Amino acid sequence: MNTPPTPFHDIASALAGEGWCVVPDFLSAAQTRALADDCRALRDAQRLTPARVGGLRTATPLRSDSTHWFQADALSAPQQVFVDRLDALRVTLNRELMLGLVECESHYAVYPPGGSYTRHLDRLRDSDARVLSAVFYLNEAWRVADGGALRLYLANGSSHDIFPHAGTLLLFLSAQFEHEVLPARRERMSIACWMRQRALAPTF
Ligand code: OGA
Ligand code: MN
Repeated sequence: MNTPPTPFHDIASALAGEGWCVVPDFLSAAQTRALADDCRALRDAQRLTPARVGGLRTATPLRSDSTHWFQADALSAPQQVFVDRLDALRVTLNRELMLGLVECESHYAVYPPGGSYTRHLDRLRDSDARVLSAVFYLNEAWRVADGGALRLYLANGSSHDIFPHAGTLLLFLSAQFEHEVLPARRERMSIACWMRQRALAPTF
């Protein structure tokens, strides 16, 4: 079944209220599949790199994904479609919420079966540039039994699990929501993005 795309205005309202929201069908099934194929091709060409945490220089047991950063001057056609739509959302959010988001950064992430990312906050220790986190999922026919939910910890002490279904976009305020990636039984692909404000000078 196809649900109509969520208008950007509704996304802005949800973020203003709750600080997070889930958007089904952010792209069409064909656009999402093209991104999944693109991600798999990079994985097969060994162009993914084991992810790092903060300033650590070695791969870490805190997260088990491998990533590939989008490069603004060398986007594939599917990446360009995604970046354009995310940028249109960024412009709407700036207009409706006055967030001052100046740019987006994005990377593919592939978690092997059993992979996870421990509970964390996306704000880097020495920078307040990341305002809004966005995670877009690329996994067709994902079942609850496959695991791999993103567990978002809410202010009231409860949590909410979001499964990585193809076409789903999760948005949350980077400074406010701790979250973790639970282990999955299947390979799990996503695009992790951050909408950034002009950072204040770091205070060490
Ligand atoms: C991250 C992250 C979540 C996901 O990369 O910081 O939390 O569901 N990713 O892939
Ligand atoms: Mn994160």
